[in-house]
Amino acid sequence: MSENQAQLIDRFGRKVTYVRMSITDRCDFRCVYCMDEEMTFLPREQVLTLEEVIFLMRAFCELGVEKVRITGGEPLVRRNVDWLMAEIGKLKHTTALKELTLTTNGSQLRKYATHLVEAGVDRINISLDSLKKDRFKALTRTGDLDTVLDGIDAAKQAGFKRIKLNAVIMKGRNEDEVIDLALFAIKNNLDISYIEEMPLGHVTHQREESFCSSDEVLETLQTAFQLHQSTSKTGGPSRYYQLADSESKIGFISPHSHNFCESCNRVRVTTEGRLLLCLGQEDSVDLRGIIRRYPGDIERLKQAIIDSMDIKPEGHDFNISEQPIIFRHMSVTGG
Ligand code: GTP
Ligand code: 5AD
Ligand code: SF4
Repeated sequence: MSENQAQLIDRFGRKVTYVRMSITDRCDFRCVYCMDEEMTFLPREQVLTLEEVIFLMRAFCELGVEKVRITGGEPLVRRNVDWLMAEIGKLKHTTALKELTLTTNGSQLRKYATHLVEAGVDRINISLDSLKKDRFKALTRTGDLDTVLDGIDAAKQAGFKRIKLNAVIMKGRNEDEVIDLALFAIKNNLDISYIEEMPLGHVTHQREESFCSSDEVLETLQTAFQLHQSTSKTGGPSRYYQLADSESKIGFISPHSHNFCESCNRVRVTTEGRLLLCLGQEDSVDLRGIIRRYPGDIERLKQAIIDSMDIKPEGHDFNISEQPIIFRHMSVTGG
């Protein structure tokens, strides 16, 4: 088979064309749904080096992966992240890679936005769960709303193709801001996704009590806006609606109420180089072990990735009433 053609196909006929790569488990925020107040982070030697990340992304993109999303933790707290993005961006010239994207909490965007566009980052997603300063602080524990709003502004000026906001909606925390967040997105010509909370890792609150379904969010939005179901797809699990008289799209990521496993096109790589075949399952392959045992042997690495397709599970089933189902925090997996 010729290089760069889609070669990653699982037992259920699903083509894997999208990789989510977490480059750090660290973060300058401690969002209540994502982390515990006290977190222990991975020791440096267990984390893939930036060179290893680039090597790995090359292997995936030579196997037909078209979209790479860099995640964390907060990817922009990793040193030399701008260099990393530029190196991955270059893969667009030599491999199947078409789109490079990043998910961030926005705190470092004033510093990095322009560099990211120059590096070839096409789109970014920025978390924003509240527009109230005190509440934003309470939800993120350490974050500052004004810094993030300034970061969003920097991103708008930098010239990304599209910017999307991510809001995890929780009962008793921010469900009364659903409409205000949409108005903010519209005013700034951004897209927005509302996300159902997922039971990943131990956190301090009872997830069952805070759970707010996408259908409830949609109902609230319909009291204020005319929404039309859209066929638009970004390669992710969002279901999109278009607003009348606005370019902004409204998305819903609903792993509980609308399972999207049958069209799953992605895998994730954790900060430690563990290839996870499904966000909601533990099936994985230790790619770091292969990279470190056989440095530079890209064919061996590619074969291991091809072989991993045999263990990609059919799907997952989150149960919000048991905590935690999966012991990894989202910050290790990158979501
Ligand atoms: P696109 O892929 O560009 O559409 O972006 P995205 O919205 O999928 O990515 P982002 O990193 O912004 O993630 C938003 C939310 O979607 C996070 O809470 C992710 O954990 C969640 N998410 C992304 N992919 C999956 C998936 O395959 N399964 C589940 N359950 N959640 C996912
Ligand atoms: N459930 C749902 N979304 C989560 N995120 C982090 N942890 C969780 C969780 N337990 C979201 C963040 C960010 C995206 C990458 O994942 O808000 O927008
Ligand atoms: Fe950090 Fe994102 Fe987790 Fe919040 S959700 S603590 S910003 S990694």
